[in-house]
Amino acid sequence: MADHGKTTAKLPKEFVWGYATASYQIEGSSDQGGRGPSIWDTFSKIPGKISDGSNGDVATDSYRLWKEDVALLKSYGVKAYRFSLSWSRIIPQGGKNDKINQEGLDHYRSLLEELIKEGIVPFVTLYHWDLPQELHDRYGGWLNKEEIVEDFVNYAKICFAAFGDIVKHWITFNEPWCISILGYGNGIFAPGHVSNTEPWIVSHNVILAHAYAVKAYRDGFKAIQHGVIGITLDAHWLIPYDDSPENVEAAKRGLDFKLGRYADPIYEGHYPARVKAILKDRLPAFSPDEIAVVKDSSDFFGLNTYTTQLVQNKGDDEFNGLVTTGSTRPDGTQLGCQSDMPWLQTYGPGFRSLLSYLWERYKKPIYVTENGFPVKNENDLPVEDAVRDVHRQGYYQDYTKALLQAVTKDGADVRGYFAWNNFEWYAVRHGFYF
Ligand code: NOJ
Repeated sequence: MADHGKTTAKLPKEFVWGYATASYQIEGSSDQGGRGPSIWDTFSKIPGKISDGSNGDVATDSYRLWKEDVALLKSYGVKAYRFSLSWSRIIPQGGKNDKINQEGLDHYRSLLEELIKEGIVPFVTLYHWDLPQELHDRYGGWLNKEEIVEDFVNYAKICFAAFGDIVKHWITFNEPWCISILGYGNGIFAPGHVSNTEPWIVSHNVILAHAYAVKAYRDGFKAIQHGVIGITLDAHWLIPYDDSPENVEAAKRGLDFKLGRYADPIYEGHYPARVKAILKDRLPAFSPDEIAVVKDSSDFFGLNTYTTQLVQNKGDDEFNGLVTTGSTRPDGTQLGCQSDMPWLQTYGPGFRSLLSYLWERYKKPIYVTENGFPVKNENDLPVEDAVRDVHRQGYYQDYTKALLQAVTKDGADVRGYFAWNNFEWYAVRHGFYF
């Protein structure tokens, strides 16, 4: 098509488009193929924990229908697919001295080979929240530093050895903020602990498990397998509610608690000063040996992001850095279109700002490993209306435009984008396919 003399901004040719999922959210067959139970099997069966009473026993049945799923991905024309391995499918009891389940390894091998055959590049997450239940029962799971770090590294090495010849993009953890705050702070995710001391211990141990797994990859596999390895963190872009100095400072503090708490140790080698000032002794310290392993332990910046929020300096919510977030501006207008989740509104410009900020600040190539929009009340719509999907299309248009601007105008090095697609922990719909 003629462009009438206009210059068309373009993403680099190698830019990777894909979809993303997670094991518990798609696989189902939770007691098949030798898989052991995970903390999400236990948690989602406690009455009241999932609002509509559903669980991942069947999910989108992908353990059985994986070939059809790959065919669907192929029909969408994607270049890449991000999914997670279920630890308890590979080692049903999870620990370094526990038995490996060959059937689990074979399943993922078949999936990976099919993806490669179809020209789809796999991005593999090692941990998307489904800790083997046995490790939680045996020694307290993520609360027990010595045991969990060793067991996670052992699991990671088994995966590198089994799949590293064809997997060149590894993500150690998905969203440590959710693991620690939702799992051990306010208890809305598995294992459902409520505490104001445990989340900081858990996230510290997750950072260490990530870093030692990366070290194992770099020391033992990278030279032969030539892959990259990193972590996926979650963040919303935070805008001060108004230009008062307290709210400007609160937005920075909110970002430090949500993102800097992981990104600063991993990319810069220390916890943020604002976090230390509030948590004091409750924030564990890294030893010099540990920090040498933690610092620079991610080859890229994996980013899950969905929304932007307005921040005020008030409240006692330590999990978010003593700030209050919302989406109504001082003049009463809304930031964007409301989704089916209270915290998520569309706001493309915030996505652009976040990408540019991360690039400027951490200087690592960015992969947007999740982005998406659950349409408000979609569950109540007749399917014929739901599949017209006007709001979801609008969201993706805004966000991909913002991404293009971040790359072509702000110079951010963004290399890939994955749309989110599956059974949702909060019983809303996120997918593309009915
Ligand atoms: C991020 C999480 O990684 C994913 O599991 C979840 O479904 C989406 N957010 C949407 O809430």
